[in-house]
Amino acid sequence: MKRFKLLGVIALGAVIVGAGLVTWATPAQANGGPHGNFTLTTSSCAGCHRAHTAIGPDLLKSETVYGLCTTCHAGVAQTDVVHGQQVGTGKTLNGGGFEQVRGGAVSSSHTVEDLPVNGTPATGAGTAWGSQDGVGDGGVGVQGTLECTSCHNPHGSTNYRILRDASTTAKWVPNDPDLLSWVSYQVLATRDDAPNYAFDVTTQADCPVIPSTGTTPTPTPGPGTKCMSRFTSGVQSVTGQPSIIDPLKGMNAFCATCHKSYLTMSGGPGFNSLNTPEATVGPGTPTRIPSVIYPGTQDALDGHGEVARYRHSVGRTKGSPPKQPLRFAARGNDPNPPGTLQYDAMGCLTCHFAHGTNAAATPAAGDTIMPGPAADSALLFYDNRGVCISCHQTVGVPATVTPAPTNTSVPPTNTPTATPVP
Ligand code: HEC
Ligand code: HEC
Ligand code: HEC
Ligand code: HEC
Ligand code: HEC
Ligand code: HEC
Repeated sequence: MKRFKLLGVIALGAVIVGAGLVTWATPAQANGGPHGNFTLTTSSCAGCHRAHTAIGPDLLKSETVYGLCTTCHAGVAQTDVVHGQQVGTGKTLNGGGFEQVRGGAVSSSHTVEDLPVNGTPATGAGTAWGSQDGVGDGGVGVQGTLECTSCHNPHGSTNYRILRDASTTAKWVPNDPDLLSWVSYQVLATRDDAPNYAFDVTTQADCPVIPSTGTTPTPTPGPGTKCMSRFTSGVQSVTGQPSIIDPLKGMNAFCATCHKSYLTMSGGPGFNSLNTPEATVGPGTPTRIPSVIYPGTQDALDGHGEVARYRHSVGRTKGSPPKQPLRFAARGNDPNPPGTLQYDAMGCLTCHFAHGTNAAATPAAGDTIMPGPAADSALLFYDNRGVCISCHQTVGVPATVTPAPTNTSVPPTNTPTATPVP
């Protein structure tokens, strides 16, 4: 028995998966697997490091970070991020996948270093669109090398899914003024996270019907249902006031550490990105809420150059159910608020997967390539612009949906907020 203990644990995990009960040795802890919560007699280090015989930098037992992570996360542990599925159940992972999702090859991903793309390991070099504020660069976006460890800390963190914590060198590209610093206790797992790494849009437990006001429809998965994201959103909602976001909290804020200026709040579509925040939000005070949090111009490589942009709202709530299932995060910053958790906050992961998607990318009439700087399927949850029609059910002549939605659709309300700056 010279092998480290973890191997035994993985074998046990596999047996339990086989029995249909997916679990891990430390399910009660925030960080699953060998990541953190180390004791003074831990064997975890050996899952990744060799003291004298390492073949990768930082004494890693694999040559690259991707190679290291995928020794476990490509079918050994329950979370197979390469194929985007939970081993045993076959459910799609919350994050999607890096090479495959839902059984199909990816059409876009966060292209981490060493990820095989058409058989060639990727360099990981990429542009974080939306990171520019017009200071110190051409307004296109910060460039750097993306790795699994750009977002996750393999040693554990205070955040959901070991997303990176604040530290003294706490930026993806150190010292770049257009990036934000990581924040501790920023994204928290809700009490509904068991942890639950995967979901199925046809499973009632994963996608409960959110009843429309007054009636409780017979719960049916499918159209009109909301899937629960297992993290806090950072979107608060005060009765009688538009929703507000804490720009330092929640998953939207996490994505915005790199994609800064895409973090917009309620009312966003009506005000361009030169609107500066103009009021603070306090209890009981009638407040005007900034529609754009990190103002600045952007060159989106669409021929218009570096100009102000209008952006879809990201941090806000949406009560009415979508036309086809979409994921909504828990409202607020507190994973254990008094009362019921409300899963009606929309954000980056309502429209996008975190890792990669196999969604189709068919250019709209008149276009030869996909729009937007990424010019591909942009990690989207549904084919093409399926996410748009999911919420905007009232646009155009309705197509027949099968099965019929179980809830009456309510059009999104445009919430007027800050006074536009000319
Ligand atoms: C799941 C894999 C994994 C485990 C388990 C792990 N490490 Fe690491 N460690 C890494 C990776 C990957 C790096 C490279 C740094 C980076 O990319 O963030 C690293 C870097 C380090 C570093 C140098 C950088 C730093 O963060 O200070 C030290 C020291 C270190 N590990 C010690 C340990 C010790 C001690 C243990 C056991 C308690 C351990 N590691 C467990 C993956 C792991
Ligand atoms: C751009 C940031 C980012 C990068 C890069 C990234 N992840 Fe993730 N990862 C996330 C986020 C965010 C989640 C949570 C997704 C959710 O719950 O919807 C996540 C979730 C996970 C999970 C839990 C299962 C799941 O799908 O929710 C695992 C395991 C994981 N990541 C491993 C990896 C590995 C291995 C790599 C490199 C191959 C990687 N991640 C690269 C952001 C990232
Ligand atoms: C020695 C095996 C092993 C290695 C190597 C490993 N992991 Fe894990 N990791 C696990 C296990 C086991 C879990 C628990 C979930 C599961 O069973 O799939 C886990 C869970 C995770 C989670 C979810 C944590 C949570 O909060 O629930 C993330 C994110 C993650 N790993 C990222 C990484 C990254 C990034 C690397 C590479 C730096 C890596 N892992 C390397 C075994 C490993
Ligand atoms: C309402 C759905 C929706 C939400 C919410 C959303 N996105 Fe997107 N995103 C899209 C679509 C659709 C595209 C494809 C390009 C386009 O149509 O503008 C895209 C493209 C992108 C791109 C590629 C560059 C580009 O502009 O085309 C990045 C990066 C991105 N989104 C990041 C984010 C981040 C970060 C958040 C949260 C702060 C977010 N998105 C929230 C729908 C959304
Ligand atoms: C550590 C910095 C970093 C973080 C954090 C980050 N991204 Fe990215 N993102 C990048 C980089 C770099 C690229 C361009 C390279 C690539 O596509 O891999 C990118 C690309 C994208 C794209 C376009 C992908 C494509 O090829 O079409 C989308 C969409 C996106 N990110 C959404 C998100 C969302 C949603 C989150 C939060 C879960 C997030 N990003 C968090 C760095 C980051
Ligand atoms: C998760 C639900 C959701 C998705 C998905 C979604 N929207 Fe929206 N959309 C809204 C809400 C809510 C508003 C009102 C925003 C506000 O004023 O804060 C809105 C506002 C708009 C507006 C401004 C006009 C108005 O009614 O206020 C346009 C245009 C728009 N969305 C287009 C799109 C497009 C195009 C897509 C796909 C990329 C999309 N939406 C995806 C919920 C959504």
